[in-house]
Amino acid sequence: MSATTQSPGKAAEVPSFDVTVKIMRSVPSDVPSAGYGEPVPAPTSRWDTFTLTMHGSDRVLDALHKIKWEFDGTVTFRRSCAHGVCGSDAMRINGRNRLACKTLLKDLNLRKPITIEPIKGLPVIKDLVVDMEPFFDSYREVQPFLIVSGVEPTKERLQSATERALFDDTTKCILCACCTTSCPVFWVDGQYFGPSAIVNAHRWIFDSRDEGAAERLEILNDREGVWRCRTTFNCTDACPRGIEVTKAISEVKRAILTRTH
Ligand code: SF4
Ligand code: SF4
Ligand code: FES
Repeated sequence: MSATTQSPGKAAEVPSFDVTVKIMRSVPSDVPSAGYGEPVPAPTSRWDTFTLTMHGSDRVLDALHKIKWEFDGTVTFRRSCAHGVCGSDAMRINGRNRLACKTLLKDLNLRKPITIEPIKGLPVIKDLVVDMEPFFDSYREVQPFLIVSGVEPTKERLQSATERALFDDTTKCILCACCTTSCPVFWVDGQYFGPSAIVNAHRWIFDSRDEGAAERLEILNDREGVWRCRTTFNCTDACPRGIEVTKAISEVKRAILTRTH
């Protein structure tokens, strides 16, 4: 086995590389402040280009931080955990929905500029920040919480490993909206519940401890519900958690068709 020698206290050199980043900018004046019945002007947008020196395993989020902290403090985006858990930094990177904190720069084609745009289908508030309320409205509508009746038990509600496995995949959702905002049906019809709301309904519909399945299935049997899905798999491809979104939607469709009440 060979060993590399390194001077005491000297860290291994991290390779650096240059990247060009193009960010779609929309200024706040494009967006109505109060909006009480006022017509909403179409946002005027422009591309701003930045050339940066980045390092080793830097991510798109690191590039955005560098731009904001060293070049232009007005560049606006959401992020919180920086580790793929909170779901707040979904954006369109090179035309694909991804989390900025989980996208390594070295995995992108650095010979071309990296394009960063807001996710599609939700109103842009500023730059990469969109209004998530329509997305969360659909989430709230499917009642994403335990529904039970009767007297509260004095012990935990037991469930077998087999019962738990039925909805394991859909518990992984971090509500990032990558799936819903990559769905062509959602782009043309903002009323469609969207894949994320259906995933979160699935999580409870197939939970043996829950008693609200019939109610949720009826909600999703709506004309803006599961039947709008055209099984194009964009949502599955976009999910940063690897959830089989389209499969979950199919299971909900089947549950509607086979329900006995
Ligand atoms: S599979 Fe259905 S929900 Fe998913 S992107 Fe396609 S149409 Fe939308
Ligand atoms: S299903 Fe995946 S892509 Fe959709 S909101 Fe949840 S984590 Fe994000
Ligand atoms: S910042 Fe939380 S998921 Fe990316």
